[in-house]
Amino acid sequence: MPLLEVSDLRVNYGAITAVQGIDLFVEKGEIVTLLGANGAGKSSTLSAIVNLVKPSSGKIMFDGQDITWKPTANIVEAGISQAMEGRQIFPRMTTLENLHMGGYISTKEEIEVGIERAYELFPILKERSKQMAGTLSGGEQQMLSIARALINNPKLLLLDEPSLGLAPMIIQDVFNAIVSIRDEFDTSILLVEQNARVALAISSRGYVMEKGKIVIASTAEKLLNDEKVIHAYLGGESKALREELT
Ligand SMILES: Nc1ncnc2c1ncn2[C@@H]1O[C@H](COP(=O)(O)OP(=O)(O)OP(=O)(O)O)[C@@H](O)[C@H]1O
Ligand SMILES: [Mg+2]
Repeated sequence: MPLLEVSDLRVNYGAITAVQGIDLFVEKGEIVTLLGANGAGKSSTLSAIVNLVKPSSGKIMFDGQDITWKPTANIVEAGISQAMEGRQIFPRMTTLENLHMGGYISTKEEIEVGIERAYELFPILKERSKQMAGTLSGGEQQMLSIARALINNPKLLLLDEPSLGLAPMIIQDVFNAIVSIRDEFDTSILLVEQNARVALAISSRGYVMEKGKIVIASTAEKLLNDEKVIHAYLGGESKALREELT
């Protein structure tokens, strides 16, 4: 049984159907990427999994439990954390206080352990622990947002565009951290990314969404070699360049 299994998920916003009956799964230990153009329904899918947006129909199974329409707090307790688009850190709180907020279902001891692990993953956050989060750089805020989502030691982490707005060198740091999260925290990851090549390079599988539907579901390797996907999402670079980069 997969760790996460989403079946026939639909999300409507009034008359707008953002997600039109999609199926996807994440196995334990996997990093899976969800690709798609702006407005394809990626963020809506992640939000619906944790019931921040109410699915209009479908079924979401997680770790053997039916979590469809469960309160978000219960879904977090079941083991799903999310670091959503826009980062949503508390700007007038320090880095350390933000990390504490991430542990709202954890004991004091678990939070301490979680913060130590977060500092190992992102050493810069330790240096910035007393700094107001609103004054951190974009990359540091992104790291804080991911680190905060890890304090509860989730089984599954949902990441919405972790590389958005970051410089290329920092993007690589963030992706290296995502691999460490899988390997060292034993956390599976469902990743939404526009940076398709880098995301697929660390993923086992990927899905491509278009207008609320999944149009391609394949291994990351096949997606990286698929001409259609390359043109739509990887900028259509030459094969030689692709081989050099992957
Ligand atoms: N709260 C909302 N109310 C109404 N429509 C919404 C709302 N949120 C999203 N939508 C619409 O649903 C569709 C899917 O949006 P969504 O944010 O899921 O796309 P996305 O794939 O994450 O796009 P992006 O890459 O730009 O982040 C879009 O047409 C969007 O305008
Ligand atoms: Mg989005």
